[in-house]
Amino acid sequence: MEFFDVLHMRQSVRSYTDEKVADKEIEALVEAAQLAPVGMHNSKGYVLTVITSESVLTQMKTAFSRVTGKAGDPSYGAPLFLLVSKTPEAIEEIAKYDAACLIENMHLAAADLGLGSVYIHGMIFSIRGEKDWQKAAGLPEGAVPLCGLAVGHSAQALRPRPTKENFKVTYAR
Ligand SMILES: Cc1cc2nc3c(=O)[nH]c(=O)nc-3n(C[C@H](O)[C@H](O)[C@H](O)COP(=O)(O)O)c2cc1C
Repeated sequence: MEFFDVLHMRQSVRSYTDEKVADKEIEALVEAAQLAPVGMHNSKGYVLTVITSESVLTQMKTAFSRVTGKAGDPSYGAPLFLLVSKTPEAIEEIAKYDAACLIENMHLAAADLGLGSVYIHGMIFSIRGEKDWQKAAGLPEGAVPLCGLAVGHSAQALRPRPTKENFKVTYAR
């Protein structure tokens, strides 16, 4: 896809089919994350966790319900969750910005592959400090979840978004 076509296809998808994401597609998403910029070249500051285990995904949902008292799946039943965590080497001041760069690269790559995805931040606090979950997900000691991308095959046909002018733009010419 042309780059601007990818930008138009990027959208938040919150309803998925049961179809799994193929290994080749997962590899491409991981590669997209590896190509993301991070401040101070600090690639040691982050760890990407690729979660397809149904039990680990279910435990995320359970942790969310326990902490918030809310039913429902905060990652919308997506069969793949790509979690970005900071390590003790992260530079605190820029950690969230760096993590967002990884997520956006994967979000765009998912759009290019025809997959649906959505940036997930709201439920992350519910898995932070969940030692059993972190162990089951294989997070290294000291890693702190920051944000994630839920990915799958969209239950609805995806169409390009119209060009939107959401942000105020000012010029100093
Ligand atoms: C930092 C950030 C956090 C977000 N967290 C969530 C989230 O926890 N759950 C969710 O459903 N969408 C989340 N979103 C997706 C936004 O709601 C979505 O991008 C916005 O509504 C615009 O829609 P679009 O992505 O289709 O253009 C998040 C997006 C960003 C950038």
